[in-house]
Amino acid sequence: MARRNFVAGNWKMNCTPKAAQELVSELRPHVADIDSADIAVCPPFTSIAAVAQLIEGSNIALGAQNLYTLEKDGGFVQSGAYTGEISPEMLKASDVQWVILGHSERRQYFGETDKGVNTKIKACFATGLLPIVCVGETLEQRDEGITNNIVETQVRGCYTGIPADQAALTVIAYEPVWAIGTGRTASPEQAQEVHAHIRAVLTSLFDEATAEAIRIQYGGSMKPGNAAELLAQKDIDGGLIGGAALNAEDFAAIIKAAANA
Ligand code: PGA
Repeated sequence: MARRNFVAGNWKMNCTPKAAQELVSELRPHVADIDSADIAVCPPFTSIAAVAQLIEGSNIALGAQNLYTLEKDGGFVQSGAYTGEISPEMLKASDVQWVILGHSERRQYFGETDKGVNTKIKACFATGLLPIVCVGETLEQRDEGITNNIVETQVRGCYTGIPADQAALTVIAYEPVWAIGTGRTASPEQAQEVHAHIRAVLTSLFDEATAEAIRIQYGGSMKPGNAAELLAQKDIDGGLIGGAALNAEDFAAIIKAAANA
């Protein structure tokens, strides 16, 4: 079965509720007739409620950029004395469907690990959320020639103990760290090579059918001008878009490229 392209906007630490409403109000009519690709926007926590209202009944799904939980007594912490944190249940109750996990900025600045992401993936499934699991190498790692090993370690670590039927529903975002927010994009060939490797790792972790079902987004300076050639690659199933997702026309153009790929 062909995988359906999925384009998600990672708004990062941008957009007050008012700015978020303006952005999504502008986006909605641009993409209203798209029915051959999935679309999500991932605002910061404080703008989730404002966006949820405006996308109700539309083809735009809601995502978050992180969650907090711990494994406890065979379940997951959903509330308690964790000042400043947001639980999976809180997101679920706010109409969130998708959660970005293990973004490189969280790994780099907030100490996020594959083991932590693994716990969060499990908590997503326990709560009825779906994860977008981010992996990717730094420039030093690429220059050392260890990109495939790094990404393989990340995928194996994040997916430890996840059953195949759940894994099939997850999305992976391959985001080379050196391409994020830098204007420097992986070439379609560079990206395809890593995407194919990730799918091979998934085949060995699960089975071929599961690996074929998992959508792998590319992320890292994807823009209207380079989206089509990236999305034309066999194993690239959409995009996780940062900067270009903050402009409704640019984001819509990428979504259209995904719908037509
Ligand atoms: P970028 O960010 O599109 O601004 O490079 C992508 C991401 O970090 O998800």
